[in-house]
Amino acid sequence: MIYTIREVEEEDSTEIERLAGMCSPLRASVAGTYEYFALCIGRYFLMAEGSKIVGFIIGLPKIDIEGECWIYQIATDPAHREEKIATILLDEEIKRFKSDGFKNIKTRILATNNPSMELFMKHGFKRVDVINEWIEFEKNIKE
Ligand SMILES: CC(C)(COP(=O)(O)OP(=O)(O)OC[C@H]1O[C@@H](n2cnc3c(N)ncnc32)[C@H](O)[C@@H]1OP(=O)(O)O)[C@@H](O)C(=O)NCCC(=O)NCCS
Repeated sequence: MIYTIREVEEEDSTEIERLAGMCSPLRASVAGTYEYFALCIGRYFLMAEGSKIVGFIIGLPKIDIEGECWIYQIATDPAHREEKIATILLDEEIKRFKSDGFKNIKTRILATNNPSMELFMKHGFKRVDVINEWIEFEKNIKE
């Protein structure tokens, strides 16, 4: 199956909320939150679609530390897992952050969320900290 990656638009937010609700242990946000992400940081809020939305990723620039950004959420429809959807979303997100001059990408993943940790480690993220039940990962994207 060929999937298209595009920026999420406000109108997609209900569908993104529905998908997020199926993607435990991710803590789904409400549609209104996704609407505002689409409105304010659309360049880093991407989705994969075939005949419907099958995955999304949200990245957030950290406004008080120059060059730092975070991955907030990434999710793939359970019916389409292990088809490299998260891989293409994360690749595109990293590409955009890099071309926009960011130096460092961080994320926190539940210590029990093995698929997600494997995904990020496969993309060159390294474990840098432990905060309660969360593991913090970081990837340097300088030059
Ligand atoms: C984590 C998640 C996004 C991976 O999505 P996906 O589209 O299935 O991932 P991909 O097919 O691109 O897999 C890429 C890599 O991730 C890792 N991975 C994916 N699923 C895995 C699994 N079930 N077990 C172990 N590693 C896994 C592997 O390293 C894989 O590479 P490989 O296929 O060469 O082995 C998906 O499982 C998901 O939506 N989980 C629920 C939401 C979530 O936990 N999000 C992260 C926190 S915000």
